[in-house]
Amino acid sequence: MNVGLKESEFKEQLASFLEKSQPIIVEKWLIGAKISEDDPYYEEIIKNGKRTVELISRYIRVQDESWIITLTKKIANERIEANVNIGEFIANINFGRSVVLSVLNESSFNRDELSEGLQIINNYFNAYSYHSVTEYTKLKDSIIQDKNKFIQEMHSDRLTILGQLGASFAHEFRNPLTSIKGFLKLIEDECEASSANHYFEILNSEMKSLEEKVSQFLFLSKMRGIDDRPLSLNLSGLLRYTIEILYPRLLESNIEVETEIMPDIPLFGVEEQIKQVILNIVINSIEELNENIIENRKITLRAQENQGRIIIEISNNGREISSHLVESIFQPFISTKKLGTGLGLSVCKQIIEKHEGMISVQSNPQRTTFVIELPVMVDKGVKEE
Ligand SMILES: Nc1ncnc2c1ncn2[C@@H]1O[C@H](COP(=O)(O)OP(=O)(O)O)[C@@H](O)[C@H]1O
Ligand SMILES: [Mg+2]
Repeated sequence: MNVGLKESEFKEQLASFLEKSQPIIVEKWLIGAKISEDDPYYEEIIKNGKRTVELISRYIRVQDESWIITLTKKIANERIEANVNIGEFIANINFGRSVVLSVLNESSFNRDELSEGLQIINNYFNAYSYHSVTEYTKLKDSIIQDKNKFIQEMHSDRLTILGQLGASFAHEFRNPLTSIKGFLKLIEDECEASSANHYFEILNSEMKSLEEKVSQFLFLSKMRGIDDRPLSLNLSGLLRYTIEILYPRLLESNIEVETEIMPDIPLFGVEEQIKQVILNIVINSIEELNENIIENRKITLRAQENQGRIIIEISNNGREISSHLVESIFQPFISTKKLGTGLGLSVCKQIIEKHEGMISVQSNPQRTTFVIELPVMVDKGVKEE
């Protein structure tokens, strides 16, 4: 009982000693703390220092953290506004603690009495640091989130504009392209077999590549042809046919193709669109293998159906795709190629999602695999927009 009384008496003495020492503590703290002279809250900082010391006395009397939370919230807000980094902020709190302790050291309290008081003051500053850091990081996080959101919105606006621009160009290109192609064929037929044949080959292949790019732009803008009604298809045949079209390119690049395609997989979908997906992915694989001088270049195409779900896997043994590219690979305009449009895979994703399926990619140092999952039958036909 006696000890308890002594203890509360001592606490009261300590609390009022700190109240009286407030001006000197604040003064010492201001001399050593890192505060910029043009801090917009300079006056507030002095007031906050005084409040911080006042609260120590309050805490010694009643150990309740709610006032600490209120004050540190206010200060953290100001520090964020003043654009002060967290290191400086914490350094100033720690410096405050050492000023208080040094003033107590010079006091006439006896050591034994003081040790318990020091414990309480340390607890106070621990709580003070904890709430300051928590509030500061919470505010910083929300600022970062807002900025990210803003950047994303800007990015998607830009993509929309680019997409519309690209699509209208592509649309204008389509008709002249068709007529150039027709006349090219006429001239080719009229020319005798000669050295010009080689030039026709180049012209035709360049025309084809232009056509491919134009049709991808058009798909993105949804200005598509009329032949995109969904029908019952034989996916197995369609896959084999697509590989056949690419046969000359595969041969030229010395790529072995391995297929494991279940016979007669049924699919309700738009033939030209599914072909386009397979072509885009296989062409990317060919381009990757051509970039990368390796032996045993190989593309594997697997397709199977199981209980109404179709799984198509197209893989190649090229380089591993870096993880940050894997994350954005299906977004438009993402390309690592000098002349790439970055549209191929975004068109694939749109087509597959329209067919109520999913497309994903997995890549490791041994192989890269694109996986497409589709339902055999889409409930109400392919989604119309
Ligand atoms: N099989 C693959 N192996 C490695 N990288 C690939 C593969 N397929 C696609 N990529 C990467 O994804 C990017 C986007 O592909 P895509 O959308 O088809 O556009 P583009 O072919 O015009 O670059 C490519 O530039 C390439 O970096
Ligand atoms: Mg491509």
